[in-house]
Amino acid sequence: MALFTLLNAHLAWGDLPLLDGAQLTIDPGERVGLIGRNGTGKSSLLSVLAGRTKLDDGELQFTDGLRTVFVEQEPLLPEAPTVLESLVLRGRLQDISDEREVWRLRARIEEMLHRFDLEVDTDPTKASGGEKKRAALALALALEPDLLLLDEPTNHLDLDAIAWLEEFLINFENTVIVVSHDRYFLNKVCTQIADIDYGKIQLYAGNYDFWVESSQLIIKQMKEANRKKEEKIKELQEFIQRFSANASKSKQATSRKRALEKIQLDDIKPSSRKYPYIDFRPAREIGNEVLTVEHLSKTIDGEKILDDISFILGREDKVALVGPNERAKTVLFKILAGEMEPDEGSYKWGLTTTQSYFPKDNSAEFANDDTIVEWLTQYSPEKDVTYVRGFLGRMLFAGEDGVKKVKVLSGGEKVRCMLSKLMISGANVLMLDEPTDHLDMESIDALNRGMIKFPGVMIFSSRDHQIVQTTANRIMEIINGKLIDKITTYDEYLESDEMARKRFTFTVTESDEEDD
Ligand SMILES: Nc1ncnc2c1ncn2[C@@H]1O[C@H](COP(=O)(O)OP(=O)(O)O)[C@@H](O)[C@H]1O
Ligand SMILES: [Mg+2]
Repeated sequence: MALFTLLNAHLAWGDLPLLDGAQLTIDPGERVGLIGRNGTGKSSLLSVLAGRTKLDDGELQFTDGLRTVFVEQEPLLPEAPTVLESLVLRGRLQDISDEREVWRLRARIEEMLHRFDLEVDTDPTKASGGEKKRAALALALALEPDLLLLDEPTNHLDLDAIAWLEEFLINFENTVIVVSHDRYFLNKVCTQIADIDYGKIQLYAGNYDFWVESSQLIIKQMKEANRKKEEKIKELQEFIQRFSANASKSKQATSRKRALEKIQLDDIKPSSRKYPYIDFRPAREIGNEVLTVEHLSKTIDGEKILDDISFILGREDKVALVGPNERAKTVLFKILAGEMEPDEGSYKWGLTTTQSYFPKDNSAEFANDDTIVEWLTQYSPEKDVTYVRGFLGRMLFAGEDGVKKVKVLSGGEKVRCMLSKLMISGANVLMLDEPTDHLDMESIDALNRGMIKFPGVMIFSSRDHQIVQTTANRIMEIINGKLIDKITTYDEYLESDEMARKRFTFTVTESDEEDD
C-alpha cells in the first residue's frame, strides 16, 4: 500500500504555476531525493505534504494516522529559556500523556543535540540560522516519524555531520523525502529521485547518478523515436504526392494519408535547468614558490583558534581544509587573504602568485550602490563592458540583469557574482571558503568542473563531499588549533587509521575530562 498519493495536483502563487497536474505515489520505506531548479517548487511541495499549504486543486491521499515531521529550509524555534525546552514545544511533547515516553523523547532530543554540536541550554532567541536548523533536525530525528520531510538539511552541517546524517537516514526504517543539492549525499542516501520540472513530478528508481543517466537516456530514446517517425512521415508524404493524382493508386494514397495522420511526434521538452560555465584561467603561470606559512597563531575570545601552524604550498597543490571547526578554517583564510592579523608567526606568498579570495561571508562586497556590471568591472583587467558582460553571461546573468543593484541580489546570485569575480581576476591561486553555499546543483556541478580544470593552486573548504574528493590532492584539518596535513585524497584520509589516530590524539588531549 502506498504511503501517500498526490493526484492531479495544482498549486500556484499568483500566476506562477508550481504544480500543474502533478502526480506522485510514494511507498513506505523509500528515501526520496527531491530535486529541481531553484524556485521550481520543492519547498512548496514539502509544505503541501506536511499539510501546511493547501492545494488549489487535486488531491492528497494519506495513510491514516501517519506521523509526519517537517524540517523547513529555515525553521523557527518557539520561545523558551533553552533550546531543549523550545524543541519540547516544537515537538508538542506536552500532548503526549505517557510520561515515560516523554522522558525517553527528551533524552533522545538531548542526545541528538549533542550529535549536532549544540548545547542543551543554548538560548533559542540568540541561535543563528544554522543552529536553529540543526536543532530542528535533532528534534525531527529524535521523534522518528513515519514520514520525515527535510528541506536542504545539509546546508548548515559540516562534512562530519553530513556523513553522520547519511548513516542515520540509511538506517532509518521509515520514509524520507529530502530536498538537497548535495550530489554525494543524494547518491549515498536515496532509493528514488523525484524531479520537479514544468509543474510535473517524475519519479525515478535509484540514486542521483542513476537519475542523471536515465533522464538523459529517456531524452535520447525520445529523439531517436522522433527521428524514425520523421523518416516515415517523409516516405508517406512522398508516396501521396506522387500517386494521389493517379487513379489506379488513389486507394493506396488515401490509406497512406490516414497512416500519416496517426503519426504523432513526441513533445520533447528539454529540462528547464541551466548550467553556468565556470572556467578559472590564470593570467600567468605560477612559479615554484607559492606560499610559506611559519608558526601562525591566533587567539579569539580566549580560544586558541590557530596554534603554531606551519606549512609550505607547492605549485601542484589543491588543498581541502576539512573538519568541523568552521571558525578555524575561516580565520586561516582571512589571515592568508590579508584581512586579519595573526598574533604570532608569518606567511609569505611567492612573487609569481596572484590570489583571489572567496570569503564565506560576502556581505561587505555587496554593501554599495553598484550595478552588477559596475561591480564586476572594478575587478576586471579590461574595462570594456562587452568583455565584462561575457563573464556575467557565463554565470547566467542575462543582459538586462547587468543593471540590477548588487545589494538586492539573492544569496545564490551573490555567489554567482563572486565566482565571476574569481574568473575575471585571472588569479593563479584561488582561496575558496565554502563556495557552494546557496548554489543549486547545476551551479555546483559547473563549479566542480571548473575546479578540476583549474591549473593553478587552490586552498578551499567545502561541505560538498564530491568536490573535495574530485579536486583535492592534499588534506588539512585544524583540531584544537593544531594542523594535520597529509598528501592524500579525502576518502583515503577518512579511511586512514593513522589519520584517525592523529585526529583522536588532538581531540582527547583537550577534552579528555569529559565523561561519555
Ligand atoms: N507563500 C508564498 N507566496 C508567494 N510566492 C511564493 C510563496 N512561497 C513560494 N513562493 C514562490 O514560489 C516559487 C517556488 O518556491 P519554492 O517552493 O521555495 O522553490 P524551491 O524550494 O524549489 O526553490 C518561488 O518563485 C517563490 O518565490
Ligand atoms: Mg526551497
